[in-house]
Amino acid sequence: MASLDITAVRAAFPALASGVLFGDNAGGSQCLADVAARVSDYLLRANVQLGADYSVSVASTTRVADGADAAREMFNAASADEVAYGSSSTMLVENLARAMDADVREGEEIVVTGEHESNAGPWKRLAARRNATLKLWPATQLPAYPNNPYAVGLQLDALLPLITAKTRMVAFTACSNILGSINPVKEIVAALRTRAKELGARKLEVCVDCVAYAPHRGIDVQDWDVDYCYFSFYKVYGPHTSVLYARKPSLTDSLTSLGHHFLRIDSKPYKLQPGGPGYELTYACTGPHPRGTLAAGWAAVAAHEQALLAPLLAYLRGKAARGVRIVGDEQAGAARVPTVSFVVVGARAVRSPDVVKAFDAKGDIGIRYGHFYAYTLVDDLAPKVDTDDGVVRVSFVHYNTVAEVQRVIDVLEEVLA
Ligand SMILES: Cc1ncc(COP(=O)(O)O)c(C=O)c1O
Repeated sequence: MASLDITAVRAAFPALASGVLFGDNAGGSQCLADVAARVSDYLLRANVQLGADYSVSVASTTRVADGADAAREMFNAASADEVAYGSSSTMLVENLARAMDADVREGEEIVVTGEHESNAGPWKRLAARRNATLKLWPATQLPAYPNNPYAVGLQLDALLPLITAKTRMVAFTACSNILGSINPVKEIVAALRTRAKELGARKLEVCVDCVAYAPHRGIDVQDWDVDYCYFSFYKVYGPHTSVLYARKPSLTDSLTSLGHHFLRIDSKPYKLQPGGPGYELTYACTGPHPRGTLAAGWAAVAAHEQALLAPLLAYLRGKAARGVRIVGDEQAGAARVPTVSFVVVGARAVRSPDVVKAFDAKGDIGIRYGHFYAYTLVDDLAPKVDTDDGVVRVSFVHYNTVAEVQRVIDVLEEVLA
């Protein structure tokens, strides 16, 4: 496996030349110069309505279609006709749940997690509209860390007892934007489908939030056997636009079109896109890489990210006596991305906003505190964590360096000495 050429990687992001340490990447990543150039080129040279027969429209139609194909590749979907674009992941899932209204029956069950509300709120509202039953798959204590009550994660043994013959939808995250843990989607979906079949469930569908996963690893909706999946390009070095995968049979059979009644789009993603996508943003997602090279890239990214993650986790584990509690898995490894959250408790507790204040005072380091919209997960932590304070979160991606990790540790040492 080729290792990452970090100098070349960083040169592709103009924002990094400022020397600012971007450590809030789970909130949003920096944007590639190439992406901005594509937005500009589209708006300045090709900004026409799609689908007409004059030459500029034909070229623009091709550019936007290429954007859908880029997303198809990111999902490893069978067809670009399974990809809908929208302004945010949150909006796309709300649209998805609304399109599903007619296919959810009274008394059926929907399982959500306490992770980012984008994959919970729309299902809660759908359950209320349809008189369906809502269930929570809670994050539970990881047995490897009995001394840390905040070392929690989504575990299959807490999910399977929730499944019944009435389970219609299970909505969960491929990676937590707080815990940094990668969930074994393929294994979870296989176990769910087996259990649902044993119990004679009418129709089980699965919706996976990949927003916190997509910057770190390759998605494979076909291998995972999921029905719906989504992520946002602004977390993956792109523009503010998001994509939702809907597997063809689900798109055709489970969803009612949100589009105009006279459009014949029953098997098209346009069903979930009431109105056109942002053309320039969709085109900007095409990116410079040749198709088919993603897998090697992800391997190099994952290896580099482990080099960032290990020293930060080791430092925080070493501060357990000072009251530091990692929120999530305490160890680096294949099932962990460099999104690291913690709280400082005990006799010398430090509130999360006060930890972050020390970083803000430096002026050139960006990290954050809060619940990061995984409100229920943070609210359910025990002993209780104030949801306004939430956790301190440091989140790196592949363009960060080991030297930057050390800068973060140095500031933490000032606060936690
Ligand atoms: C895990 C996760 N899911 C969903 C979202 C929501 O994405 P969007 O801002 O595109 O609605 C976020 C945003 O932070 C996230 O971290």
